[in-house]
Amino acid sequence: MRSMIDVLDFSVEELQELIDTANDIIEHPAAYSERCHGKKLATLFFEPSTRTRLSFEAAMYELGGNVIGFSEAASSSAAKGESVADTAKVISCYADIIAMRHPKEGAPLVAAMNASIPVINAGDGGHNHPTQTLADLLTIYREKGGFENLTLGFCGDLKFGRTVHSLINAMSRYPGTKVVLISPEELKLPSYVKKDVLAAKGVPYVQTTDLEGAMPELDILYMTRVQRERFFNEEDYLRLKDSYILTPEKLKNARKDLSIMHPLPRVNEISVAVDDDPRACYFKQVLYGKYMRMALILKLLKEAGRL
Ligand code: CP
Repeated sequence: MRSMIDVLDFSVEELQELIDTANDIIEHPAAYSERCHGKKLATLFFEPSTRTRLSFEAAMYELGGNVIGFSEAASSSAAKGESVADTAKVISCYADIIAMRHPKEGAPLVAAMNASIPVINAGDGGHNHPTQTLADLLTIYREKGGFENLTLGFCGDLKFGRTVHSLINAMSRYPGTKVVLISPEELKLPSYVKKDVLAAKGVPYVQTTDLEGAMPELDILYMTRVQRERFFNEEDYLRLKDSYILTPEKLKNARKDLSIMHPLPRVNEISVAVDDDPRACYFKQVLYGKYMRMALILKLLKEAGRL
């Protein structure tokens, strides 16, 4: 059964197919409004979410389907000790496809190994967030016209920021990608991502603490929130949370065609004064995420023989 646990589960060609479908949905929404009639998406969210859960739900409704699910572990039988594997088997009796977010790395993979329907990883701990990457890829495609020869600056919590790990995985497959990693010492990109992805794919990268110094060379600036929920102590979070705050002043040496991205939620790391800058793309990312999730649901249901 085909699932999406990691963005690398899909080839570059398949990602382009999703982008093409999403662009077609944007152009011709009415043509898709009944494609999932009679189908059910189960949203199993063991961790808080606004965008991912609601965009999956909006995506399924806009395809003419229905949604069941829960938005916190406390309201599911996980609170009584039910395993992820059993939950996946049970939900397979009720729904056609699952979107799962879980605080434990690997939980959606366990679900996929036990479900008889496709499972989509909607974020697993500090590991991966492939459907945020789908939103990011459509944003980059529409802003830049393609994926080749781009310099991406990732800024903030690169240690726990799962959206960063997934997007680096995805962008490392395109020719000419360069990466600038901007973070405090304690929140540097994990070594396994540097070794297994950047070094393995021969992607040039530099690490720095200096956002303004890196700014002039960037095509894309990907800001991230410091992930409070992954810290072991509050003192460290409070010390690091405002390490980077993007303001109009800090953009003065940025390119005119820079794209400023952020997976959201934002806390302090982008001043609201930046929102009116035409280079700010983070609310477009939110909208594009819904269209990419529609395209993904269609593809996985079709491959599962359920459409
Ligand atoms: N970007 C993202 O995953 O947002 P949520 O946590 O609100 O789903």
